[in-house]
Amino acid sequence: MTNVASTLSGRKPSVEWETPQELFDLLHAEFGFTLDPCATPENAKCPRYFTREQDGLAQSWAGERVFLNPPYGSEAPLWVEKAVTECRTAGALVVCLIVPRTDTRWWHEHCAHAAEIRLLKGRVRFRNPGNPADRPQDPSAVVVFDPDAPPGRPTRLTFWDWQAKAGRGR
Ligand SMILES: C[S@@+](CC[C@H](N)C(=O)[O-])C[C@H]1O[C@@H](n2cnc3c(N)ncnc32)[C@H](O)[C@@H]1O
Repeated sequence: MTNVASTLSGRKPSVEWETPQELFDLLHAEFGFTLDPCATPENAKCPRYFTREQDGLAQSWAGERVFLNPPYGSEAPLWVEKAVTECRTAGALVVCLIVPRTDTRWWHEHCAHAAEIRLLKGRVRFRNPGNPADRPQDPSAVVVFDPDAPPGRPTRLTFWDWQAKAGRGR
């Protein structure tokens, strides 16, 4: 996640932005995740997960139901490309929680052809225990790559008030 304060101070922006548990729970109730491929033991959202040392990009996600909240910034396209490859070639369902960078090549090449895109209402307050002063700077989207989606079916685009669904309406 981009952070202006970090950038101005010369500090490398942290990538340890944890998904709020209520948002994960909502998605997990719908999709039934089996793998968190980018995590630490402290922030993993599934019992099965990969850490930076194991490198989730280099692992197989075959047949998994994947919750993907990748490191943002320059690495994000690599994770989206991995999601597409694992969906197409290995039958993985991948639900990505990412910044909708609708002006980028990777958004147009990959996300624009996903089974579903949900644009989230409000800023998601990702938790960053080592960086409590940071504030969310970006919007969020859920992008679903579904191996069972019929080929050629148009992408389903919705505007998603997830906090209302989670009983946190504001
Ligand atoms: C945005 S955080 C998401 C954390 C957690 N999965 C969640 O959703 O709350 C991204 C995580 O990916 C980890 N990470 C960075 N590079 C990785 C890699 N190559 N393989 C696996 N994990 C990686 C970081 O340490 C960080 O914990």
